[in-house]
Amino acid sequence: MKILGILGSPRRGGNSELLLDKALEGANSVGLDTEKIVLNELKFSPCQECGGCAKTGRCVINDDMQIVYKKLNEASAIILASPIFFGSLPAQVKAMIDRCQCLWVAKCVLKKGRGLRARKGYLILVGATDRDSFFKNAESIVKNFFGVSDVEFKGSLYCPNVDRKDGILEHPDYLKRAFELGKQV
Ligand SMILES: Cc1cc2nc3c(=O)[nH]c(=O)nc-3n(C[C@H](O)[C@H](O)[C@H](O)COP(=O)(O)O)c2cc1C
Repeated sequence: MKILGILGSPRRGGNSELLLDKALEGANSVGLDTEKIVLNELKFSPCQECGGCAKTGRCVINDDMQIVYKKLNEASAIILASPIFFGSLPAQVKAMIDRCQCLWVAKCVLKKGRGLRARKGYLILVGATDRDSFFKNAESIVKNFFGVSDVEFKGSLYCPNVDRKDGILEHPDYLKRAFELGKQV
């Protein structure tokens, strides 16, 4: 089993990455293989709504999203860790999700989705405030993305009231829960 960790934050060594690393450590602790991708370090454009995927369900834009599609496809489980930006997800995460329109076309229009597979999806969210509506908003977008990608949403970890770069270190409870989330995968 390959567990794919996706880092949505542009801030290396920040809260999302510390949480994601803990979750992947948890998965490693029970013998699972893990891999991490950092969206901000990939070069890909937002969806161009070009219709290039309409006949095949495959995106025609030749950039780093092609790597992400392959890794998404190979993963047995996905753990997405992201900060809240403006009550939602950072542009890096949203751009990846929008580029998965080709998966929606494959599944819903061409009816050649990969069908039900035992792929699980987890979400870790961190934000400076404790506004539940922000976390719920981000979660609903990710649930939609998981649904389109044939990933079964298995749960979220919300980490409110964390702002400073390594502020999460003052919340060992969140880090412990991230580790447990990874173990549970
Ligand atoms: C552009 C931007 C927008 C943000 N918007 C919100 C927000 O709407 N609500 C919130 O609670 N925190 C917001 N934050 C704070 C981050 O979610 C918070 O600092 C988080 O801990 C960052 O995680 P990271 O270290 O993984 O990047 C924002 C931060 C930035 C840079």
